Amino acid sequence: MEKARFEPLGERDVEAVFRLWARAHGVPAERMRQRLEIMARHFGYPGFAGLGAYLDGRLAGFVYGFTGMPGQWWYERVRALMPPEMARVWLGRHFEFTELAVDPAYWGRGLGGRLHDAILERRGEPRALLTVNIDNERAQALYQGRGWTCLLEDVRLVEAGPLLWVMGKRLG
Ligand SMILES: CC(C)(COP(=O)(O)OP(=O)(O)OC[C@H]1O[C@@H](n2cnc3c(N)ncnc32)[C@H](O)[C@@H]1OP(=O)(O)O)[C@@H](O)C(=O)NCCC(=O)NCCS
Repeated sequence: MEKARFEPLGERDVEAVFRLWARAHGVPAERMRQRLEIMARHFGYPGFAGLGAYLDGRLAGFVYGFTGMPGQWWYERVRALMPPEMARVWLGRHFEFTELAVDPAYWGRGLGGRLHDAILERRGEPRALLTVNIDNERAQALYQGRGWTCLLEDVRLVEAGPLLWVMGKRLG
């Protein structure tokens, strides 16, 4: 595979990122417009950073996250689930590793791993957190191979939502 060109993501990229997210997750973009609004909001959060991987001039993968802070939806949901000591150690100005996705046409060729490593190389936070679905073995393998550990198993952020792992990684 030709080496992908990595470029920082900006607000102009939200629509393309959303469409690739839907393709990678196998969900119809037209029924997930609410996710586009959430992503657009994320792009304006403090400490936001994103990278797009381009192959033949097309977005083939992306990663993004931001600095986790009190008052953010995800932060508050995870704080409610964590025992106080875990929350004290892990939450607060962590890097929230929010989305990583690669076009299925390019899976298994190292692009996801490279995007993961590239975004974390540039962060100043001491810790990073993410959630991954319990049945997403491909992503779990990627994270476990890169130093993430499972902090909370089989939790839901919303009542009717999927079962998740909350994973953490020390940076630097
Ligand atoms: C998860 C995802 C980003 C991985 O992207 P990718 O480009 O295929 O990843 P890589 O080729 O760099 O592989 C990374 C790791 O995945 C694992 N992996 C690769 N192919 C695999 C396979 N066929 N089965 C299981 N795990 C596999 C390996 O652990 C690999 O680690 P290595 O780099 O040490 O070999 C991609 O599958 C995707 O977009 N999935 C849908 C979106 C998603 O689930 N995102 C994560 C949300 S938390």
